[in-house]
Amino acid sequence: MKPFEMTSWKKIINRFETFKNKSILSYFDDPNRLNDFTFEFENIYFDFSKHRWDKKMLKLFSEFAREMNTRQAIEDMFSGQIINRTENRAVLHTALRQQDDQPVLVAEKNVIPDIRKTEVQIKNFTSKVISGQWKGISDKNITDVVNIGIGGSDLGPKMVVKALSNYSNHLNMHFLSNIDPFELDKLLNRINLETTLFVIVSKSFSTQETLSNAKKIQEIYLDKFGKPSIAKHFVTVSTHIEKAREFGINPENIFPMWDWVGGRYSLWSPAGISIPLAIGFENYQKLKTGAYTMDKHFRNEEFDKNLPVIDAFLTLLYNNLYGYETEAYIPYTDKLQYLPDFLQQLIMESNGKSVDLSGQTVGWQTGNIVWGNIGTNAQHSFFQLLHQGTRIIPVNFIAEKQNRFTKFKENHNILLANMIAQSEALMIGEHNDVAYKNFEGNRPSTIILLDEITPESLGSLLAYFEHKTFTEAWLWQINAFDQFGVELGKRLAKKILEDFNNLIRSHDKSTKALINRIIS
Ligand code: F6P
Repeated sequence: MKPFEMTSWKKIINRFETFKNKSILSYFDDPNRLNDFTFEFENIYFDFSKHRWDKKMLKLFSEFAREMNTRQAIEDMFSGQIINRTENRAVLHTALRQQDDQPVLVAEKNVIPDIRKTEVQIKNFTSKVISGQWKGISDKNITDVVNIGIGGSDLGPKMVVKALSNYSNHLNMHFLSNIDPFELDKLLNRINLETTLFVIVSKSFSTQETLSNAKKIQEIYLDKFGKPSIAKHFVTVSTHIEKAREFGINPENIFPMWDWVGGRYSLWSPAGISIPLAIGFENYQKLKTGAYTMDKHFRNEEFDKNLPVIDAFLTLLYNNLYGYETEAYIPYTDKLQYLPDFLQQLIMESNGKSVDLSGQTVGWQTGNIVWGNIGTNAQHSFFQLLHQGTRIIPVNFIAEKQNRFTKFKENHNILLANMIAQSEALMIGEHNDVAYKNFEGNRPSTIILLDEITPESLGSLLAYFEHKTFTEAWLWQINAFDQFGVELGKRLAKKILEDFNNLIRSHDKSTKALINRIIS
């Protein structure tokens, strides 16, 4: 299927030509503008009204999604079809949060019983650690937990643990991802080995950074406390149980993962085990319930009212028609500090592809560049470019209406006033005869306003972004679920590391000079 050869896409292009110069503000002449482009979803308010399109365009995009058989594509994902064809895998992060026991078959095997069994394993394990039943080598309670993992084995859990820190218990959570020894040194200075539990999270159990960090820490334990300490201070999550055993992890402390969960979609799997450790199993389940509610919406709602689908349409509108290449994510809450990092992996690792589902080079732009930082901090760094730069960058503002955990209500209001003001300023601009003081305006933004960041609402929000990513990929006809683009650099790094000892390989001149500079 060639998306941009579809009849409905041609209609989109024709209509685009007629309105591309229209101002966003003028769309508000239509009395139904707000009604048409704002949506309530389980205590989350989505405002898509400040965008450069209208209801007719939304209808045309919906027609396009139908012509592209998007409904069938969604069903194929939820029902466990092998949609990640390059890796011959199903894609079932949705099964991990399914609240009923409706069978989901992968190669004729129902995956739900295994998921339920693992949930019990996680519940028992996390409650033992939280309650103090789980003891360290010197019989002391666990006070600190370190998640050792990178990419999807770090970003999702780290982001959720911070976002829900108002729900957290006494355990101090740490995340060790990078191979830079600076982080490892710092961590080891902060924790007490006798009361720390390490969770090694690696789907492949072959990621250099994760295994090197884990190995170093394991050596320290062996040296200080001997072999029995490993079972008391290390657990792991992996699809490669054998490799984890070889590493010395007690089989009882190995949590399974499945090849039908992609790393960047894995916080719902045991890879997210830091989350129930930090906030308790019940809250973790609520996070999944929230995601499940969004899953049902995505699976069943008409496209012109389907939130992740509408957001994906906006990406295509801006990327493929207006030619805007990036989208910014600005959470106006420190709780979501790590959301932009998480979304970078989710969206860019999923959709940074240039080959379509039939193996041909795509003839259109795909994966948007995703970036951002928290407001108001971002206002004082890069918002200048958003308001007066030559590029137009659609912005996604995300905030919570109330923070019932703070007594500084006034500060929260200042935060929200700033967010709304930025969105308004981007759209309305301000005329000034002095050119450098002029604000052109007409710059689009979405506002996602959660009543409150709770496990449920966060779960819905994250599922929303996952499904937006999926829909974009489908409409571009690319595979959102492989990541071969990360492999070449990993292979070369291994060779270069060997060459640090003895430069035996031939390299280009620049690379060779750099290696020589390191080893000399
Ligand atoms: O290098 C990219 C990647 O494979 C991501 O897709 C993944 O989330 C991350 O590395 C970590 O992988 P693993 O969980 O297998 O250690």
